[in-house]
Amino acid sequence: MKKVALIVAVCMLMVPFAAFADEALFTSKCVSCHGADGKKSAKVDLSSAKVQDQSDDDLVKFLTTNGIHKSKVADVEQAKSVVKFVRGLKK
Ligand code: HEC
Repeated sequence: MKKVALIVAVCMLMVPFAAFADEALFTSKCVSCHGADGKKSAKVDLSSAKVQDQSDDDLVKFLTTNGIHKSKVADVEQAKSVVKFVRGLKK
């Protein structure tokens, strides 16, 4: 029983850390061009329907293949993590 409680406690602790990791990644890799709210770039507003209407897979694919972007994300896992944060920018 104690083990179960411990596992549950550890899982509950990891949720905010996961969200923090997504944000930390966005802050270090994306904010310079897109801004903290995703609206800084004149070319594309990350909170807009143009971006938010795309599937997670499409956004991950963009990030791992597009010129500027593929040098910013190390791998598909990082791309997925940062996409999670981008979802939170939705209007
Ligand atoms: C050096 C500046 C720069 C950085 C850093 C950067 N971006 Fe971008 N991003 C752009 C520009 C410019 C565009 C629009 C032009 C284009 O499509 O290449 C864009 C477009 C996008 C789009 C729109 C894709 C679409 O289909 O229209 C998304 C989503 C995006 N960026 C996410 C990110 C994320 C997440 C990061 C961090 C990992 C990031 N960007 C880092 C400059 C940047």
